[in-house]
Amino acid sequence: MDLRTQYMGIELSSPVIVGACNLVSNLKNLRKMQEAGAGAVVYRSLFEEQLHLENLEISEAMAEYNNRNSEFNTFMPEFEHAGPKEYLAHLKKAKSVLDIPLFASINAVYEESWVQYAKQIEEVGVDGIELNLYVVPNEMDSGAFEALDWQIEIIKKIKAAISIPVAVKLSPYYSNPLQIIRRMEDAGAEAFVLFNRFFQPDIDLEKETLSFPYNLSGENDYRLSMRFAGLLYKNLDASICGSGGIFTGYDVAKLILAGADAVQVVSTLYKNGIGQINLINNQLKSFMESKGYESLDDFRGKLSKININDPFAYNRAQYIDILLNSRDIFKKYPII
Ligand SMILES: Cc1cc2nc3c(=O)[nH]c(=O)nc-3n(C[C@H](O)[C@H](O)[C@H](O)COP(=O)(O)O)c2cc1C
Repeated sequence: MDLRTQYMGIELSSPVIVGACNLVSNLKNLRKMQEAGAGAVVYRSLFEEQLHLENLEISEAMAEYNNRNSEFNTFMPEFEHAGPKEYLAHLKKAKSVLDIPLFASINAVYEESWVQYAKQIEEVGVDGIELNLYVVPNEMDSGAFEALDWQIEIIKKIKAAISIPVAVKLSPYYSNPLQIIRRMEDAGAEAFVLFNRFFQPDIDLEKETLSFPYNLSGENDYRLSMRFAGLLYKNLDASICGSGGIFTGYDVAKLILAGADAVQVVSTLYKNGIGQINLINNQLKSFMESKGYESLDDFRGKLSKININDPFAYNRAQYIDILLNSRDIFKKYPII
């Protein structure tokens, strides 16, 4: 059974990519991911905000020390902040233990940093870069299109500065993600990761404070990216990568049927262990065997919008249909 797939011009042995997360920081985990049959790994993001915070903490700690011994200031050679150096060093190590492709991921704040980090990352020798693009709207007056135009500009500048492939991991919260994806493809993006998942704060009622729980995806969450994969299939030259709530090989089969080229998994690895990658590949193979498929191309996009006859399947009109046939739901969930 052939699980090979093309992802932004790179051949992967399996469509299952480990998504950006903290598990990748450990070299042992990386080896396990490769042994379990991952097609590729995305390294955790280089967050510029985090570098600024770390620098601030270091500066504050040093300033405190300086106050205790004011003369120390003059003896102390100028402190050079680590910047992305530490991240780049980890990335290099990660690359050295893997034979499968390794992609880096960046989230920067300033335009110059995006481009500068992308260039530095390319020098490490990774196989591609994922741009972790998001704006979390929190001001009433900031314009919707300004943020988008800025993101398109970043993609263009990065593409002009580096030669390895560039993927964009984007938010589902645009008024029309399909048009945004088209514009981003025109700007040079070679793959789209559907979608970024944001951590939402919760409230601790007892303490009456905001809390920040680690919430992993739930099973069935894959449907959002599956729907968009189905809408995008054959409308793009760029690769489509499903992400969010993909737990089993059967979920992967659904994403491929909708039209995805690859998928990313994270929560399932936290919940079920890294060995889950092996199980996912085997489940995908068993689905293929049961249907007589020998390669992913045999069924990719079979259930995409352009390949099915039902014009309503990818529209909300389907929801009306569900409401009209509400007897089924009452049978399943009888109201007591
Ligand atoms: C602990 C943890 C760390 C993560 N770190 C990153 C990151 O550095 N960059 C990024 O783009 N996404 C990050 N993510 C998001 C995942 O890459 C992924 O998009 C999200 O978890 C949805 O996929 P899943 O349903 O398979 O978990 C992280 C997720 C988790 C749970």
